[in-house]
Amino acid sequence: MKLSSFRLAIALLAQLVAPVVSQNSTYYNPVLPGWHSDPSCIQHNGTFYCVISTFISFPGLPIYASKDLLQWKMIGHVRTRESQLPGYSWNTNGQQHGMYAATIRENNGTFYVICEYLNVPDKKPGVLFKTTNPYDETTWSNPVFFDAPKIDPDLFWDDDGKVYVSTHSVVIQEFDLDTGKTGPAINIWNGTGGVWPEGPHIYKKDGWYYLLIAEGGTATDHAVTIARAKKVTGPYTGYERNPILTNRKTQEYFQTVGHADLFQDAGGNWWGMCLATRSGPQWKSYPMGRETALFPVTWDKDQWPVLQPVRGEMSGWQLPAPSRDVPGNGPWNVDPDVYDFKAGQPIPRNLIYWRIPRDGAITATDNGLQLVLARNSLSGYPNGGQNGATRAISFIGRRQTNTLFTYSVDLTFSPKANNQEAGVTAFLTQQANLQLGLVQLDNQLSFRFNATGKISTSTVPAAWAGQPIRLQIQMANPNTYTFAAMLASDAKTKTVLGTASAESLSGGSGSFVGTLLGVYATCNGAGSGLDCPSGTPNAYFQRWRYTGAAQYISATQTVPATVDMAKSEV
Ligand SMILES: *[C@@H]1O[C@H](CO)[C@@H](O)[C@H](O)[C@H]1NC(C)=O
Ligand SMILES: *[C@@H]1O[C@H](CO)[C@@H](O)[C@H](O)[C@H]1NC(C)=O
Ligand SMILES: *[C@@H]1O[C@H](CO)[C@@H](O)[C@H](O)[C@H]1NC(C)=O
Ligand SMILES: *[C@@H]1O[C@H](CO)[C@@H](O)[C@H](O)[C@H]1NC(C)=O
Ligand SMILES: *[C@@H]1O[C@H](CO)[C@@H](O)[C@H](O)[C@H]1NC(C)=O
Repeated sequence: MKLSSFRLAIALLAQLVAPVVSQNSTYYNPVLPGWHSDPSCIQHNGTFYCVISTFISFPGLPIYASKDLLQWKMIGHVRTRESQLPGYSWNTNGQQHGMYAATIRENNGTFYVICEYLNVPDKKPGVLFKTTNPYDETTWSNPVFFDAPKIDPDLFWDDDGKVYVSTHSVVIQEFDLDTGKTGPAINIWNGTGGVWPEGPHIYKKDGWYYLLIAEGGTATDHAVTIARAKKVTGPYTGYERNPILTNRKTQEYFQTVGHADLFQDAGGNWWGMCLATRSGPQWKSYPMGRETALFPVTWDKDQWPVLQPVRGEMSGWQLPAPSRDVPGNGPWNVDPDVYDFKAGQPIPRNLIYWRIPRDGAITATDNGLQLVLARNSLSGYPNGGQNGATRAISFIGRRQTNTLFTYSVDLTFSPKANNQEAGVTAFLTQQANLQLGLVQLDNQLSFRFNATGKISTSTVPAAWAGQPIRLQIQMANPNTYTFAAMLASDAKTKTVLGTASAESLSGGSGSFVGTLLGVYATCNGAGSGLDCPSGTPNAYFQRWRYTGAAQYISATQTVPATVDMAKSEV
């Protein structure tokens, strides 16, 4: 008997034995593995929706939808058009500026995503986007701009119809959803003394206004605390048993637990989502960065909510039945990528850029995904120097969503001049990335492996010239990236060309982001402006494959990449 049908039989048996009692469920965290930080989530009409932070990556602010809280479909992004924030993307130089922690809410049939766009000179940072159809990403509005003094805006509708925006350190302001006009800022709570009281969310329950925040910073001191008041503008009283959720000063594998949002399922049970880092207390190796975890919440009338501690294996309220009946197109976060590119087809939604790419830089063609070489290397500078723009790189990638995985693409590329290069990368930021490129060096077709500046080169076998070459990135253990090349037509030719520690893609210049796996192409500074010399050949990537192998849920335990309890088993 197959394992899945065995499980089904057990489930049916359990129902026969206890037909009435709804049983608690067991599941594994993170439910949104890979770089998914600062989750904000709601339930509407029996479907759950979450938005996460995306900083300068583009498209930005993905919306994930789920019927069962375990399988999440990327149904669209809120930020898909340059015209929504004209000029912003290319003028954002920092690796971790741009779209900070957003909040998603629904009111009277309209979905709202409110966010702050940080570090564009002379611009108002507050942006509010709206749609009545989150399944069609083109329907997200241009933003209503507002001038919130602080980061991490929340939206709250009071019973009298007034709308409030709350931001970090915590201040609340009345807010006009149409004009972005804000009222006077009222400081309602400072938290319990941790640094960065941020990520506020307000909920009204049993006549109380509850204010949930994150504090302690988004590292290992991160925590969730709560206060409540009888009026939305306060005075708020902190709970004496704060923090209500944290893994600080523990030996847990899941660290940095914080930045939570709470919501109810269709049956009325409360749940929460928060960010967490699978690093253990050492907090050194965590290349997927901050991921999203689900926890059950018990919230009795007039009482403070009880949030269940975040672990790899969880037990709590019965989960909604497994379902992939979610409208719209878009990949499921737990699924592998099997992409063969064709002219006229859209680029799959889970492949993202680092800032908006140059027009025509990346196109699906019948020869594969075509990358026009950029003058700037991945670092964003023509020669790896510090005097150019940080923008205009030719790069596209997907989140690393599994502790262990294999990613590969078939590259067709015939460089015509020295330093013309195309390859694969495990990319955290423009300063921290691992690259394996096919590049002409001293008039020889070569491989160059660049582990954040530590470089090794080798000559490509003469017989490989002109043939598609499969470039592969693999993690067979949680601490090491292995880069290899082989003839696409002959896996026996596989040659390992470099390894690097996962610690090199953990924290540092990318402490808010997480590793992307993808492809790049550059002429490393030849040409002028942003362009390579005319006549520079394009690079073509075909047969894009990403397959998860395992998730670690503790330092020693793994679960399969696609947890089959999250799948319809019939
Ligand atoms: C929610 O349900 C209402 C009533 O059935 C329907 O009009 C609305 O379109 C639904 N909204 C979404 C986003 O599915
Ligand atoms: C809710 O939306 C409907 C339809 O758009 C509108 O007629 C109604 O005035 C709205 N109600 C409130 C309270 O905004
Ligand atoms: C927050 O801290 C500031 C500075 O110490 C203080 O002036 C203010 O009253 C505090 N706010 C609240 C709501 O306690
Ligand atoms: C089921 O889960 C809820 C939420 O975590 C918890 O309050 C309750 O005690 C659990 N029930 C059992 C029988 O374990
Ligand atoms: C190697 O990678 C580092 C970090 O991305 C970059 O600064 C440097 O320019 C790269 N060197 C080459 C030769 O590509």
